[in-house]
Amino acid sequence: MKICVAGGAGFIGSNFIHYMINKYRDMQIVCIDALTYAGNLENLEIIRENINFKFYRGNILDEIFLNKVFEKENFDVVVNFAAESHVDRSIKNGKIFLETNIIGTKNLMDMCLKYNVKKYHHVSTDEVYGDLSLNDDRKFLESDVLKPSSTYGVSKASSDMLVMSYYRTFNLQVTISRCSNNYGPYQYPEKLIPVAIIKAIKDEKIPLYGTGENIRDWIHVYDHVIGIDKIIREGKVGEIYNISSGVEVSNLDIVKTILKILGKDYSLINHVEDRLGHDKKYSIDSRKIKNELSFECSVNFKEGIEETVNWYLNNLTWVEEVLKDKYIEV
Ligand SMILES: NC(=O)c1ccc[n+]([C@@H]2O[C@H](COP(=O)([O-])OP(=O)(O)OC[C@H]3O[C@@H](n4cnc5c(N)ncnc54)[C@H](O)[C@@H]3O)[C@@H](O)[C@H]2O)c1
Repeated sequence: MKICVAGGAGFIGSNFIHYMINKYRDMQIVCIDALTYAGNLENLEIIRENINFKFYRGNILDEIFLNKVFEKENFDVVVNFAAESHVDRSIKNGKIFLETNIIGTKNLMDMCLKYNVKKYHHVSTDEVYGDLSLNDDRKFLESDVLKPSSTYGVSKASSDMLVMSYYRTFNLQVTISRCSNNYGPYQYPEKLIPVAIIKAIKDEKIPLYGTGENIRDWIHVYDHVIGIDKIIREGKVGEIYNISSGVEVSNLDIVKTILKILGKDYSLINHVEDRLGHDKKYSIDSRKIKNELSFECSVNFKEGIEETVNWYLNNLTWVEEVLKDKYIEV
């Protein structure tokens, strides 16, 4: 089997490639990635020499590039991780989110139709459902109405709808996964967990939006990529699968947990002005993937977060490398 992994040099995509290449010895993986600020070849360094791995630098908005790669490679499956993924950036400059996340998705699906790719899997997010109030016990189902709050969420919801339209109109063999917040190795240091870890290691103030009461469901990236693998292999075409751990923690508690692991004082927490339109709580129901595809999370939150802190401690040169000429967004 030959898989095209779009956006494979980013956080989740690179973890997916590591997992797949180690699990399936006969699988060929071709990563295409524009290497934006969030994409780094350092994330793929340990498998760069693997004979089953190939990398093309290019943009999913560039149809000439895509045609060349798709014509040459004869893919069986396309998995799309390529996206602008940071809500804060979408508030400041939403246009690139709409371009990459919607038009880029369209381009990849057009390539699938043109070059007879058997399957397209779309990596989406729980943010498409919008948020809940903090005391609301509901969990969003795959069939719920989409009500995203940020430009990022809108771009992802739009691409999900576009994917379903390609199934209906062109019978493209699609699946979609909607996952909750991921943590783990290789996450670019602009999102809450890596920022908190790196700032805490350096004894710098950790910016925390508002009171920090906002709640997210946190899943280890390893469990997310296992879920995607299951959907690609056994998922029903035309279906959407939520993926979550059920571990719902406030941002404040996440930062406190990290500080505790590192033996640092809570006084490092710096409450800053809240994000515009900040979603209060995300909560999704993932019984469908559990019941239909026997998916279970394997990483315990306490162990996963400790392992993640240790990964950053042991990979400070990776941090320096990926942040070269770049900046941490707060
Ligand atoms: N991080 C999370 O917690 C989370 C949770 C649920 C879903 N998701 C979704 O998973 C996917 C991957 O997220 P991530 O956190 O790994 O993101 P990321 O920002 O770490 O990586 C995105 C990758 O896409 C590449 N890319 C961006 N624009 C591109 C373009 N125009 N052409 C080619 N490549 C391009 C970047 O270079 C980078 O390698 C996204 O679709 C995101 O919406 C993320």
